[in-house]
Amino acid sequence: MATTAKDTKTREIVELNFANPDFMATAYDTYAELREQGPVTRIRFNSGQEGEETGTPRDRLRPSEAFFVTQYDEVIATLLDDRFSVDPKSLMTPEQREQAPETPEEFRPFTRSLLGIDPPDHTRIRKLVQPSFTGRGMEALRPGIQAVVDELLDRAEQQAAARGENAPNRTMELIEALAYPFPVAVIGDMLGIPREDRQQIRGWTQNLLRIDRGNDPAQQEEVRAGLRDFTAYLTGLFARKRVEPTDDMISRMVLIEEDDEVLNEEEMLATVFLMYLAGHVTTVNLVGNGVVALLTHPEELAKLQADPSLAKNVVEETLRYWGPVDFIARRIATENLEIADTDIARGDHVTVGLGAANRDPERFTDPDTFDINREDANRHVAFGRGIHVCLGAPLARVEGQVAFETLIRRYPDLRLAIPADELQWGRSFLRGFGQVPLLF
Ligand code: HEM
Repeated sequence: MATTAKDTKTREIVELNFANPDFMATAYDTYAELREQGPVTRIRFNSGQEGEETGTPRDRLRPSEAFFVTQYDEVIATLLDDRFSVDPKSLMTPEQREQAPETPEEFRPFTRSLLGIDPPDHTRIRKLVQPSFTGRGMEALRPGIQAVVDELLDRAEQQAAARGENAPNRTMELIEALAYPFPVAVIGDMLGIPREDRQQIRGWTQNLLRIDRGNDPAQQEEVRAGLRDFTAYLTGLFARKRVEPTDDMISRMVLIEEDDEVLNEEEMLATVFLMYLAGHVTTVNLVGNGVVALLTHPEELAKLQADPSLAKNVVEETLRYWGPVDFIARRIATENLEIADTDIARGDHVTVGLGAANRDPERFTDPDTFDINREDANRHVAFGRGIHVCLGAPLARVEGQVAFETLIRRYPDLRLAIPADELQWGRSFLRGFGQVPLLF
């Protein structure tokens, strides 16, 4: 039944509390209820810490109330609609911009990254980095990606041996042993961040992810300090690459940046920063979620063991079934418009439900079933759509394929070390398990 504008306006606002440890566990039921009500509903985000204004990017990214798009067709239409902006400043008059509070210096890499800018700036910068992420280019990286996975698994085996454990009862915590360090190593190599620096960077970026954990002032200061340190580190690295360029993305960008019209230092900082972060915080969950999905669906696991070429489809079905990004929290209407008969006023914020769309029964047969033979799994919207569609999708796909195929090949007895119902989704707006203890 179509929703009328009036229906949507008068209906009760649904509160989404993603700080609640049960949020992710029950989210697909919530999305199903919302989808039943119509393609667009109204929601209020509650992160668990209300009433504090911190001026951090979280406040800017997530105004408390928004329209929520949950049906597949409307999700795609919204993402393709160029009447939406991702930059809150785009609706301000020059005077308002001038009066708007300055973004604290530390957070500028966030707000000016590809995710937060509109054309023409977005088009110009995206064109510069896109060539590094073509499907063909990623295939060329496959041997290097395989080497990283093998190295990490060798290490997990050595550590198990040092503990006196024997196959098939050795233990490994998947996230720490593989899912986290693996994409960090791959994106670090692509960008040209020296390996010896990465442990230090991990301290800074782990703080960063706390942005989604709390408004505690001490924690916020830690986040800011991490950002300052990471920014200073990158600025220093750019200077080194200017003098001694190597074969990597940062060296190529430093060359481009010589022409300030094409790319300035702040934009370069924001772009590298986003690629480094986006390059691992999501892929870690693709690997974790896919392994858990396989190990809790023995028939699907058996199919993959019998035919490893299915790893490609395991990636697509994992992204559809348990995609790491449940929703895109920011699209701002630049004019009055309608989505499926719902009036959206200029300035309204729209949240796009990728997880909800990926489980839309109008689009996918038996959407709540994990089926690695599903022919149209790759029609998922886990990477978004339109001009901001995930730049790293070809890379994430190869990473996922290599990880699943290698784990299954090397460890025929791979299984969970704890009962599946004891696994917990992390408390974040990203969908992923905090820890996945395995026996192998
Ligand atoms: C499974 C892994 C991944 C998932 C599920 C994912 C998901 C997404 C989504 C949904 C968006 C669109 C956001 C929006 O429209 O506002 C996005 C954008 C982006 N992703 Fe990914 N991503 C993944 C891996 C990666 C990797 C490995 C990189 C490495 C560079 C990356 C870099 C980016 C960048 C730079 C953007 C911004 C693009 C733009 O605004 O033009 N992502 N990603």
